[in-house]
Amino acid sequence: AVVYRDGVLGRRPAVPADFAGLERAARRSSSARAWAYVAGGAGEGRTMRNNRAAFDRWAIVPRMAHGVTERDLTTDVLGTPMPAPVLLAPVGAGALMGKDSDVKIARAAAATGTPYVFSNQGCNPMEECAAAMGGTPRWMQLYWSTDDSVVDSLINRAEAIGAGALVVTLDTTSLGWRPQDLNLGSLPFTQGVGIAQYTSDASFSRLVRERLGETAVGRTDVTLGALRSLLSITRNHPGGFLANLRSPVPRASVQTFLDTYSNPGLGWDHLATLRDRTRLPVVLKGILHPDDARRAFEMGVDGIVVSNHGGRQIDNSVASLDALVRIRDEVGPDPTVLLDSGIRTGADVFTAIALGADAVLLGRPYLYGLAIAGQRGVEEVIANVVAELDLTMALTGASSIAGVTRDFLAPQEPPH
Ligand code: FNR
Repeated sequence: AVVYRDGVLGRRPAVPADFAGLERAARRSSSARAWAYVAGGAGEGRTMRNNRAAFDRWAIVPRMAHGVTERDLTTDVLGTPMPAPVLLAPVGAGALMGKDSDVKIARAAAATGTPYVFSNQGCNPMEECAAAMGGTPRWMQLYWSTDDSVVDSLINRAEAIGAGALVVTLDTTSLGWRPQDLNLGSLPFTQGVGIAQYTSDASFSRLVRERLGETAVGRTDVTLGALRSLLSITRNHPGGFLANLRSPVPRASVQTFLDTYSNPGLGWDHLATLRDRTRLPVVLKGILHPDDARRAFEMGVDGIVVSNHGGRQIDNSVASLDALVRIRDEVGPDPTVLLDSGIRTGADVFTAIALGADAVLLGRPYLYGLAIAGQRGVEEVIANVVAELDLTMALTGASSIAGVTRDFLAPQEPPH
Protein backbone atom coordinates (compact mmCIF):
# COMPACT_ATOMS: atom_id res chain seq x y z
CA ALA A 1 0.00 0.00 0.00
CA VAL A 2 2.89 2.32 0.76
CA VAL A 3 4.26 1.76 -2.74
CA TYR A 4 0.93 2.68 -4.23
CA ARG A 5 0.66 5.85 -2.15
CA ASP A 6 4.18 6.92 -3.14
CA GLY A 7 3.24 6.44 -6.77
CA VAL A 8 0.09 8.48 -6.39
CA LEU A 9 2.05 11.19 -4.65
CA GLY A 10 4.02 11.59 -7.83
CA ARG A 11 7.49 10.13 -7.32
CA ARG A 12 8.80 9.68 -10.81
CA PRO A 13 8.80 5.98 -11.69
CA ALA A 14 11.93 4.32 -13.07
CA VAL A 15 9.96 1.68 -15.00
CA PRO A 16 6.48 1.58 -16.57
CA ALA A 17 3.87 0.19 -14.16
CA ASP A 18 2.07 -1.85 -16.85
CA PHE A 19 3.66 -5.01 -18.24
CA ALA A 20 3.27 -4.09 -21.92
CA GLY A 21 5.04 -0.80 -21.29
CA LEU A 22 7.71 -2.54 -19.22
CA GLU A 23 8.34 -4.97 -22.05
CA ARG A 24 8.56 -2.23 -24.68
CA ALA A 25 10.97 -0.17 -22.61
CA ALA A 26 13.13 -3.21 -21.85
CA ARG A 27 13.36 -4.07 -25.51
CA ARG A 28 14.53 -0.55 -26.31
CA SER A 29 17.20 -0.89 -23.60
CA SER A 30 18.54 -4.27 -24.74
CA SER A 31 20.83 -5.50 -27.49
CA ALA A 32 19.20 -7.72 -30.12
CA ARG A 33 21.04 -10.75 -28.74
CA ALA A 34 20.10 -10.10 -25.14
CA TRP A 35 16.48 -9.54 -26.12
CA ALA A 36 16.32 -12.74 -28.19
CA TYR A 37 17.65 -14.77 -25.29
CA VAL A 38 15.69 -13.18 -22.45
CA ALA A 39 12.31 -12.53 -24.06
CA GLY A 40 12.34 -15.48 -26.43
CA GLY A 41 10.60 -18.80 -25.96
CA ALA A 42 10.76 -22.28 -27.41
CA GLY A 43 9.66 -22.98 -30.97
CA GLU A 44 6.79 -20.83 -32.17
CA GLY A 45 6.22 -19.30 -28.74
CA ARG A 46 3.03 -21.23 -28.04
CA THR A 47 3.92 -22.22 -24.46
CA MET A 48 4.46 -18.58 -23.55
CA ARG A 49 1.05 -17.75 -25.01
CA ASN A 50 -0.54 -20.75 -23.27
CA ASN A 51 0.82 -19.49 -19.95
CA ARG A 52 -0.92 -16.15 -20.40
CA ALA A 53 -4.12 -17.61 -21.84
CA ALA A 54 -4.49 -19.80 -18.73
CA PHE A 55 -4.63 -16.70 -16.52
CA ASP A 56 -7.29 -15.22 -18.78
CA ARG A 57 -9.52 -18.24 -18.22
CA TRP A 58 -9.93 -17.32 -14.54
CA ALA A 59 -11.75 -14.23 -13.32
CA ILE A 60 -11.50 -12.69 -9.87
CA VAL A 61 -14.86 -12.26 -8.15
CA PRO A 62 -14.43 -9.72 -5.36
CA ARG A 63 -16.58 -9.51 -2.24
CA MET A 64 -17.90 -6.16 -1.04
CA ALA A 65 -18.38 -4.47 2.34
CA HIS A 66 -15.92 -6.90 3.88
CA GLY A 67 -14.37 -4.37 6.21
CA VAL A 68 -10.76 -5.42 5.45
CA THR A 69 -8.49 -2.46 6.25
CA GLU A 70 -5.22 -4.29 6.97
CA ARG A 71 -3.58 -7.03 4.96
CA ASP A 72 -0.80 -9.33 6.01
CA LEU A 73 1.10 -10.46 2.92
CA THR A 74 3.86 -12.24 4.81
CA THR A 75 4.31 -15.96 4.46
CA ASP A 76 6.78 -18.73 5.15
CA VAL A 77 7.87 -21.31 2.61
CA LEU A 78 9.97 -24.23 3.88
CA GLY A 79 11.24 -22.17 6.80
CA THR A 80 12.07 -19.15 4.63
CA PRO A 81 10.15 -16.08 5.81
CA MET A 82 9.09 -13.68 3.07
CA PRO A 83 7.34 -10.29 3.05
CA ALA A 84 5.05 -11.46 0.23
CA PRO A 85 4.56 -14.79 -1.57
CA VAL A 86 7.02 -13.76 -4.30
CA LEU A 87 10.56 -14.96 -5.02
CA LEU A 88 12.97 -14.02 -7.79
CA ALA A 89 13.37 -16.97 -10.17
CA PRO A 90 16.81 -18.26 -11.09
CA VAL A 91 17.85 -16.76 -14.42
CA GLY A 92 21.12 -17.51 -16.14
CA ALA A 93 23.19 -15.51 -18.56
CA GLY A 94 22.42 -12.24 -16.80
CA ALA A 95 25.69 -10.88 -18.20
CA LEU A 96 23.80 -10.32 -21.45
CA MET A 97 22.00 -7.50 -19.63
CA GLY A 98 25.19 -5.89 -18.35
CA LYS A 99 28.11 -6.48 -16.04
CA ASP A 100 27.46 -7.95 -12.58
CA SER A 101 23.75 -8.35 -13.25
CA ASP A 102 23.32 -11.01 -10.60
CA VAL A 103 24.89 -8.82 -7.93
CA LYS A 104 22.54 -5.96 -8.88
CA ILE A 105 19.58 -8.34 -8.66
CA ALA A 106 20.87 -9.57 -5.29
CA ARG A 107 21.02 -5.98 -4.00
CA ALA A 108 17.48 -5.32 -5.21
CA ALA A 109 16.32 -8.52 -3.52
CA ALA A 110 17.95 -7.38 -0.29
CA ALA A 111 16.48 -3.86 -0.54
CA THR A 112 12.98 -5.33 -0.83
CA GLY A 113 13.49 -8.37 1.42
CA THR A 114 12.61 -10.67 -1.48
CA PRO A 115 14.14 -14.16 -1.53
CA TYR A 116 16.36 -14.68 -4.59
CA VAL A 117 17.07 -18.07 -6.16
CA PHE A 118 20.62 -17.96 -7.54
CA SER A 119 21.02 -19.60 -10.94
CA ASN A 120 23.29 -22.49 -11.72
CA GLN A 121 23.99 -20.45 -14.85
CA GLY A 122 24.80 -17.26 -12.97
CA CYS A 123 27.19 -14.60 -14.20
CA ASN A 124 28.43 -13.91 -10.67
CA PRO A 125 29.48 -16.71 -8.30
CA MET A 126 26.87 -17.45 -5.63
CA GLU A 127 29.29 -16.29 -2.91
CA GLU A 128 29.38 -12.76 -4.41
CA CYS A 129 25.60 -12.57 -4.63
CA ALA A 130 25.18 -13.84 -1.08
CA ALA A 131 27.64 -11.24 0.19
CA ALA A 132 25.49 -8.52 -1.40
CA MET A 133 22.34 -9.68 0.40
CA GLY A 134 23.05 -9.45 4.13
CA GLY A 135 20.48 -11.61 5.90
CA THR A 136 17.92 -11.67 3.09
CA PRO A 137 17.01 -15.26 2.19
CA ARG A 138 18.65 -16.85 -0.82
CA TRP A 139 18.10 -20.27 -2.36
CA MET A 140 20.37 -22.02 -4.85
CA GLN A 141 19.30 -23.64 -8.13
CA LEU A 142 21.13 -26.65 -9.46
CA TYR A 143 21.25 -28.40 -12.80
CA TRP A 144 22.23 -32.02 -12.29
CA SER A 145 25.78 -32.31 -13.55
CA THR A 146 27.02 -35.38 -15.38
CA ASP A 147 29.86 -35.29 -12.84
CA ASP A 148 28.99 -36.28 -9.28
CA SER A 149 31.79 -34.29 -7.70
CA VAL A 150 30.43 -31.10 -9.32
CA VAL A 151 26.95 -31.85 -7.93
CA ASP A 152 28.38 -32.23 -4.43
CA SER A 153 30.63 -29.22 -4.74
CA LEU A 154 27.77 -26.92 -5.80
CA ILE A 155 25.58 -28.28 -2.98
CA ASN A 156 28.34 -27.74 -0.41
CA ARG A 157 28.81 -24.17 -1.60
CA ALA A 158 25.04 -23.57 -1.40
CA GLU A 159 25.09 -24.74 2.21
CA ALA A 160 28.09 -22.56 2.97
CA ILE A 161 26.42 -19.38 1.67
CA GLY A 162 23.38 -20.03 3.86
CA ALA A 163 20.95 -21.08 1.14
CA GLY A 164 17.50 -21.77 2.55
CA ALA A 165 16.72 -24.45 -0.03
CA LEU A 166 18.19 -26.30 -2.95
CA VAL A 167 16.13 -26.02 -6.15
CA VAL A 168 16.89 -28.76 -8.66
CA THR A 169 15.64 -27.82 -12.12
CA LEU A 170 14.49 -30.90 -14.05
CA ASP A 171 13.25 -29.43 -17.32
CA THR A 172 16.58 -28.43 -18.85
CA THR A 173 18.48 -31.66 -19.34
CA SER A 174 19.04 -30.18 -22.80
CA LEU A 175 18.49 -26.61 -23.86
CA GLY A 176 15.19 -26.13 -25.72
CA TRP A 177 14.76 -25.29 -29.40
CA ARG A 178 15.03 -21.50 -29.40
CA PRO A 179 14.81 -20.12 -32.92
CA GLN A 180 15.49 -16.50 -31.97
CA ASP A 181 18.90 -17.43 -30.61
CA LEU A 182 19.62 -19.87 -33.41
CA ASN A 183 18.85 -17.23 -36.01
CA LEU A 184 21.34 -14.88 -34.41
CA GLY A 185 23.85 -17.66 -33.87
CA SER A 186 24.14 -16.55 -30.30
CA LEU A 187 23.60 -19.24 -27.73
CA PRO A 188 25.07 -17.47 -24.69
CA PHE A 189 26.74 -20.39 -22.92
CA THR A 190 28.79 -21.27 -25.93
CA GLN A 191 30.14 -17.74 -25.71
CA GLY A 192 31.20 -18.19 -22.13
CA VAL A 193 28.25 -16.31 -20.63
CA GLY A 194 26.68 -17.77 -17.50
CA ILE A 195 29.42 -20.13 -16.42
CA ALA A 196 30.58 -18.25 -13.32
CA GLN A 197 29.41 -20.94 -10.86
CA TYR A 198 31.75 -23.35 -12.65
CA THR A 199 34.80 -21.26 -13.28
CA SER A 200 34.74 -20.53 -9.53
CA ASP A 201 34.40 -24.21 -8.59
CA ALA A 202 37.22 -26.43 -7.37
CA SER A 203 35.71 -29.69 -8.65
CA PHE A 204 35.07 -28.17 -12.04
CA SER A 205 38.63 -26.85 -12.23
CA ARG A 206 39.94 -30.32 -11.50
CA LEU A 207 37.92 -31.67 -14.45
CA VAL A 208 39.37 -28.99 -16.71
CA ARG A 209 42.88 -29.87 -15.60
CA GLU A 210 42.20 -33.53 -16.26
CA ARG A 211 40.98 -32.66 -19.74
CA LEU A 212 44.07 -30.61 -20.44
CA GLY A 213 46.13 -33.64 -19.49
CA GLU A 214 44.38 -35.74 -22.11
CA THR A 215 45.80 -36.03 -25.57
CA ALA A 216 42.43 -36.14 -27.31
CA VAL A 217 40.16 -33.09 -27.09
CA GLY A 218 37.37 -35.24 -25.69
CA ARG A 219 33.67 -35.67 -26.11
CA THR A 220 31.54 -32.56 -26.51
CA ASP A 221 28.05 -33.86 -26.10
CA VAL A 222 26.12 -30.69 -26.86
CA THR A 223 22.49 -30.55 -27.91
CA LEU A 224 21.64 -30.14 -31.56
CA GLY A 225 20.69 -26.53 -30.94
CA ALA A 226 23.92 -25.76 -29.16
CA LEU A 227 25.88 -27.51 -31.85
CA ARG A 228 24.25 -25.49 -34.57
CA SER A 229 24.94 -22.35 -32.63
CA LEU A 230 28.53 -23.27 -32.08
CA LEU A 231 28.99 -23.87 -35.77
CA SER A 232 27.33 -20.68 -36.85
CA ILE A 233 29.25 -18.63 -34.30
CA THR A 234 32.57 -19.94 -35.45
CA ARG A 235 31.54 -19.54 -39.07
CA ASN A 236 29.71 -16.23 -39.08
CA HIS A 237 31.14 -14.48 -36.08
CA PRO A 238 34.88 -14.85 -36.06
CA GLY A 239 34.88 -12.44 -33.11
CA GLY A 240 32.74 -14.93 -31.17
CA PHE A 241 33.93 -16.45 -27.96
CA LEU A 242 34.89 -19.92 -29.08
CA ALA A 243 36.60 -18.71 -32.21
CA ASN A 244 38.82 -16.57 -30.03
CA LEU A 245 39.71 -19.37 -27.69
CA ARG A 246 43.27 -19.79 -28.85
CA SER A 247 44.23 -20.59 -25.31
CA PRO A 248 43.66 -24.28 -24.64
CA VAL A 249 42.61 -23.51 -21.05
CA PRO A 250 39.47 -21.46 -21.83
CA ARG A 251 38.68 -23.87 -24.62
CA ALA A 252 38.91 -26.79 -22.21
CA SER A 253 36.75 -24.86 -19.72
CA VAL A 254 33.97 -24.27 -22.22
CA GLN A 255 34.12 -27.85 -23.45
CA THR A 256 34.09 -29.22 -19.93
CA PHE A 257 31.16 -26.96 -19.14
CA LEU A 258 29.19 -28.20 -22.14
CA ASP A 259 29.94 -31.79 -21.12
CA THR A 260 28.99 -31.45 -17.49
CA TYR A 261 26.47 -28.65 -16.82
CA SER A 262 23.40 -30.79 -17.30
CA ASN A 263 22.66 -34.48 -17.48
CA PRO A 264 20.35 -35.74 -20.25
CA GLY A 265 20.25 -39.07 -18.42
CA LEU A 266 18.79 -37.57 -15.22
CA GLY A 267 16.43 -40.05 -13.54
CA TRP A 268 14.56 -40.48 -10.26
CA ASP A 269 17.42 -42.64 -9.00
CA HIS A 270 19.73 -39.59 -9.14
CA LEU A 271 17.18 -37.48 -7.30
CA ALA A 272 16.74 -40.16 -4.64
CA THR A 273 20.36 -39.53 -3.58
CA LEU A 274 19.61 -35.88 -2.70
CA ARG A 275 18.42 -36.65 0.82
CA ASP A 276 21.86 -38.04 1.65
CA ARG A 277 23.72 -35.22 -0.06
CA THR A 278 22.25 -32.26 1.79
CA ARG A 279 20.43 -31.16 4.91
CA LEU A 280 18.77 -28.31 2.96
CA PRO A 281 15.10 -28.49 1.98
CA VAL A 282 14.94 -29.88 -1.57
CA VAL A 283 12.64 -28.35 -4.19
CA LEU A 284 12.15 -29.85 -7.67
CA LYS A 285 11.49 -27.25 -10.37
CA GLY A 286 9.82 -27.91 -13.70
CA ILE A 287 7.14 -30.43 -12.66
CA LEU A 288 4.02 -30.36 -14.87
CA HIS A 289 2.42 -33.82 -14.59
CA PRO A 290 0.39 -34.75 -11.48
CA ASP A 291 2.04 -38.20 -11.38
CA ASP A 292 5.51 -36.61 -11.27
CA ALA A 293 4.33 -34.33 -8.47
CA ARG A 294 3.02 -37.28 -6.45
CA ARG A 295 6.21 -39.23 -7.06
CA ALA A 296 8.34 -36.31 -5.92
CA PHE A 297 6.51 -36.03 -2.62
CA GLU A 298 6.49 -39.81 -2.12
CA MET A 299 10.26 -39.69 -2.57
CA GLY A 300 10.45 -37.16 0.25
CA VAL A 301 11.21 -33.86 -1.48
CA ASP A 302 10.12 -30.79 0.46
CA GLY A 303 8.53 -28.82 -2.36
CA ILE A 304 8.04 -28.44 -6.09
CA VAL A 305 7.87 -25.56 -8.55
CA VAL A 306 5.20 -26.08 -11.18
CA SER A 307 6.92 -24.48 -14.16
CA ASN A 308 7.52 -24.76 -17.87
CA HIS A 309 10.64 -22.61 -17.61
CA GLY A 310 8.78 -19.56 -18.84
CA GLY A 311 7.90 -21.36 -22.08
CA ARG A 312 11.55 -21.69 -23.06
CA GLN A 313 11.91 -25.47 -23.32
CA ILE A 314 9.08 -27.18 -25.24
CA ASP A 315 6.80 -25.48 -27.74
CA ASN A 316 3.07 -25.77 -27.01
CA SER A 317 3.44 -27.40 -23.63
CA VAL A 318 0.78 -27.20 -20.93
CA ALA A 319 0.31 -23.83 -19.21
CA SER A 320 1.85 -23.87 -15.75
CA LEU A 321 -1.35 -22.47 -14.20
CA ASP A 322 -3.41 -25.34 -15.68
CA ALA A 323 -0.82 -27.82 -14.42
CA LEU A 324 -1.01 -26.23 -10.95
CA VAL A 325 -4.73 -26.91 -10.68
CA ARG A 326 -4.32 -30.58 -11.59
CA ILE A 327 -1.30 -31.02 -9.35
CA ARG A 328 -2.97 -29.42 -6.33
CA ASP A 329 -5.95 -31.71 -6.84
CA GLU A 330 -3.57 -34.69 -6.95
CA VAL A 331 -1.34 -33.94 -3.95
CA GLY A 332 -3.87 -32.27 -1.66
CA PRO A 333 -3.59 -29.05 0.33
CA ASP A 334 -0.48 -29.71 2.43
CA PRO A 335 2.64 -30.17 0.26
CA THR A 336 4.59 -27.06 -0.70
CA VAL A 337 3.79 -26.16 -4.31
CA LEU A 338 5.19 -23.03 -5.96
CA LEU A 339 4.41 -21.74 -9.44
CA ASP A 340 6.14 -19.76 -12.12
CA SER A 341 5.85 -19.05 -15.85
CA GLY A 342 3.61 -16.25 -16.99
CA ILE A 343 3.23 -14.22 -13.78
CA ARG A 344 3.16 -10.60 -14.90
CA THR A 345 1.10 -8.65 -12.33
CA GLY A 346 -0.12 -8.62 -8.76
CA ALA A 347 -3.51 -9.84 -9.96
CA ASP A 348 -1.74 -12.86 -11.50
CA VAL A 349 -0.09 -13.60 -8.14
CA PHE A 350 -3.54 -13.43 -6.50
CA THR A 351 -4.95 -15.90 -9.05
CA ALA A 352 -2.05 -18.33 -8.64
CA ILE A 353 -2.32 -18.27 -4.84
CA ALA A 354 -6.10 -18.72 -5.06
CA LEU A 355 -5.54 -21.81 -7.24
CA GLY A 356 -3.24 -23.37 -4.67
CA ALA A 357 0.28 -21.98 -5.11
CA ASP A 358 2.07 -21.27 -1.81
CA ALA A 359 4.18 -18.63 -3.55
CA VAL A 360 5.25 -17.64 -7.06
CA LEU A 361 8.53 -16.87 -8.79
CA LEU A 362 8.99 -13.92 -11.11
CA GLY A 363 11.26 -14.32 -14.12
CA ARG A 364 11.23 -11.95 -17.07
CA PRO A 365 9.42 -9.06 -15.35
CA TYR A 366 12.33 -8.33 -13.04
CA LEU A 367 14.86 -8.85 -15.82
CA TYR A 368 13.02 -6.19 -17.79
CA GLY A 369 13.29 -3.85 -14.81
CA LEU A 370 17.01 -4.61 -14.72
CA ALA A 371 17.40 -3.83 -18.43
CA ILE A 372 15.66 -0.46 -18.03
CA ALA A 373 16.98 0.86 -14.75
CA GLY A 374 19.42 -1.60 -13.15
CA GLN A 375 19.00 -2.38 -9.47
CA ARG A 376 16.34 0.31 -9.00
CA GLY A 377 14.35 -1.13 -11.90
CA VAL A 378 14.32 -4.57 -10.29
CA GLU A 379 13.23 -3.06 -6.97
CA GLU A 380 10.41 -1.17 -8.63
CA VAL A 381 9.09 -4.17 -10.55
CA ILE A 382 8.95 -6.18 -7.31
CA ALA A 383 7.32 -3.29 -5.45
CA ASN A 384 4.72 -2.82 -8.17
CA VAL A 385 3.74 -6.49 -8.26
CA VAL A 386 3.49 -6.66 -4.47
CA ALA A 387 1.56 -3.37 -4.27
CA GLU A 388 -0.95 -4.59 -6.82
CA LEU A 389 -1.33 -7.88 -4.96
CA ASP A 390 -1.96 -5.91 -1.77
CA LEU A 391 -4.56 -3.71 -3.48
CA THR A 392 -6.25 -6.71 -5.05
CA MET A 393 -6.54 -8.28 -1.60
CA ALA A 394 -7.87 -5.01 -0.18
CA LEU A 395 -10.48 -4.72 -2.92
CA THR A 396 -11.59 -8.36 -2.84
CA GLY A 397 -11.59 -8.71 0.93
CA ALA A 398 -8.69 -11.07 1.66
CA SER A 399 -6.72 -10.10 4.75
CA SER A 400 -3.97 -12.76 4.58
CA ILE A 401 -2.28 -15.02 2.05
CA ALA A 402 -4.03 -18.04 3.58
CA GLY A 403 -7.27 -16.16 3.01
CA VAL A 404 -6.69 -15.94 -0.78
CA THR A 405 -8.78 -18.94 -1.80
CA ARG A 406 -10.52 -20.44 -4.77
CA ASP A 407 -13.77 -18.81 -3.54
CA PHE A 408 -12.52 -15.57 -5.12
CA LEU A 409 -12.30 -17.10 -8.61
CA ALA A 410 -14.72 -18.13 -11.31
CA PRO A 411 -13.82 -19.94 -14.52
CA GLN A 412 -14.16 -17.68 -17.52
CA GLU A 413 -15.23 -19.09 -20.86
CA PRO A 414 -12.70 -18.46 -23.62
CA PRO A 415 -14.00 -16.06 -26.28
CA HIS A 416 -15.54 -17.80 -29.31
C1 FNR B 1 15.37 -18.67 -17.05
N1 FNR B 1 14.97 -19.73 -16.26
C2 FNR B 1 15.92 -20.50 -15.61
N2 FNR B 1 15.55 -21.49 -14.75
C3 FNR B 1 16.46 -22.21 -14.07
O1 FNR B 1 16.10 -23.08 -13.29
N3 FNR B 1 17.80 -21.94 -14.25
C4 FNR B 1 18.25 -20.99 -15.09
O2 FNR B 1 19.46 -20.77 -15.21
C5 FNR B 1 17.30 -20.25 -15.83
N4 FNR B 1 17.69 -19.29 -16.72
C6 FNR B 1 16.75 -18.46 -17.29
C7 FNR B 1 17.18 -17.40 -18.08
C8 FNR B 1 16.25 -16.51 -18.61
C9 FNR B 1 16.73 -15.35 -19.43
C10 FNR B 1 14.87 -16.69 -18.35
C11 FNR B 1 13.83 -15.73 -18.87
C12 FNR B 1 14.45 -17.76 -17.58
C13 FNR B 1 13.54 -19.96 -15.98
C14 FNR B 1 13.08 -19.14 -14.78
O3 FNR B 1 13.64 -19.62 -13.58
C15 FNR B 1 11.56 -19.17 -14.62
O4 FNR B 1 11.12 -20.50 -14.60
C16 FNR B 1 10.83 -18.42 -15.73
O5 FNR B 1 11.52 -17.27 -16.13
C17 FNR B 1 9.44 -18.03 -15.26
O6 FNR B 1 8.68 -17.56 -16.30
P1 FNR B 1 8.48 -16.00 -16.64
O7 FNR B 1 8.19 -15.27 -15.33
O8 FNR B 1 9.72 -15.53 -17.28
O9 FNR B 1 7.31 -16.03 -17.56
